[in-house]
Amino acid sequence: MFFSKKSLTLMATIAVLITENVCFAVPATEAPAGFDGKTNGLVDQGTFDADRVTFEERDTIETGLGPVYNAEACSECHQNPVTGSASQVGVVRAGIFDGSSFKELPGGSLMQDRAINAAIQTRVDNRANVRSFRVSTNILGDGFVEAISDETLKQTAALQPSQSGGGIQGTAVMVEVLEAPGNYRVGRFGWKAQHASLLSFAGDAYRNEVGVTNPLVPTEATPNGRSVAAFDTTPDPEDTGADIADFTVFMRALKTPPRDTVLAATTAARSGEQSFQKTGCGTCHVATFVTAPTGTVINGGTFTVPEALGNKTIHPYSDFLLHDVGTGDGIVQNGGPSSRNKLRTAPLWGLRTRSRLLHDGSALTIADAITRHRGEAGKVVNQFNLLGQKEKDNLLSFLNSL
Ligand code: HEC
Ligand code: HEC
Repeated sequence: MFFSKKSLTLMATIAVLITENVCFAVPATEAPAGFDGKTNGLVDQGTFDADRVTFEERDTIETGLGPVYNAEACSECHQNPVTGSASQVGVVRAGIFDGSSFKELPGGSLMQDRAINAAIQTRVDNRANVRSFRVSTNILGDGFVEAISDETLKQTAALQPSQSGGGIQGTAVMVEVLEAPGNYRVGRFGWKAQHASLLSFAGDAYRNEVGVTNPLVPTEATPNGRSVAAFDTTPDPEDTGADIADFTVFMRALKTPPRDTVLAATTAARSGEQSFQKTGCGTCHVATFVTAPTGTVINGGTFTVPEALGNKTIHPYSDFLLHDVGTGDGIVQNGGPSSRNKLRTAPLWGLRTRSRLLHDGSALTIADAITRHRGEAGKVVNQFNLLGQKEKDNLLSFLNSL
């Protein structure tokens, strides 16, 4: 039998794919990083810029703002240092703890601090004995985070008990993909890993933060269970789906937060990174992930990982899993009752741009955020406390380079 050179190469490639494991056959490439307002290659720069404008657009009563809301545009809370990043802006969550479990007040746990009419100004209900702040999180790089397979995150969780000598076990919460009802995926976005898809988050945030109803969340908020219908002058849904689609393309096309390359190259930061790993911070703040191969179908069949996001290496310094590190605020979102006092490992990429740390912004220095860790992170923080002053300074240099 005769085989052409081309078909022999093809057969050899197939043999490699079969014998090795597809994931390792093609080396992953580094995801583009930058605070430069440029597309990561998912779409052209013109499309990216147009979608950024939608993300920055201030809604008005005519376009559906409110009746209750927290801000007029996505970028009001996601902008430091470029559109799509995080910011110091916080929101309020509240609910009831009845002695055994957390209960939402009718209307959910997120409060809206602003209203288009003083008559519907909302304040936390007196019945709510659980009250917490939430600082805005970063979105840069989240297109790659969305493209991490569930299996990869579950494997990370499965390895943690042996990596930590038993103390650490992250929880992968399964959350519904709003655009694919009935389909569940490992949550990874938000302080409680409450969403798995960026489109789901966009639909949720547009209604809950800006007050604009949309096909994924088609009815107005009812803060503390109170209807705001009398003040809803625009027919629902106020967004036909075009805006949430634009937000999503913009978010998926964002580059990852870049390192401070000058600081990162110093001996102090390099040695600090070793201490970070040696003390065990890296068990939860996982340095590196590789996204699913191009062509992988995710989000309940509604999204296929494109080339710009597939098989990319990223350095988020998070496992995207929930842990109890002693800072829990008692709020349950999509993760079920056991997630009450757990939080997603805060991704540390872009840390140097964050001024208010931990979910509630209660830590104002990185050192304070570290020493506040307890619970699952107790042993690791003891190790940190045992480091000499020089090693601690080096570890902080490393963190300041992120
Ligand atoms: C009033 C401030 C505010 C506005 C406006 C706002 N967000 Fe957010 N955003 C937040 C906060 C706070 C969080 C963290 C929420 C949590 O986990 O409780 C967040 C988290 C996110 C995340 C998750 C990122 C991650 O990896 O954790 C996405 C995605 C997001 N927002 C998208 C949007 C979009 C799209 C809009 C506009 C429709 C928007 N946000 C408007 C405050 C805001
Ligand atoms: C058991 C898992 C775990 C370990 C181990 C761990 N962390 Fe964390 N880390 C978390 C979680 C969860 C949060 C979010 C807590 C919150 O918001 O209340 C967090 C938050 C942080 C923050 C705040 C980031 C922000 O944007 O708010 C910093 C800084 C941090 N960790 C650094 C470290 C360092 C340094 C170590 C090692 C000494 C470490 N962590 C060990 C899980 C862990």
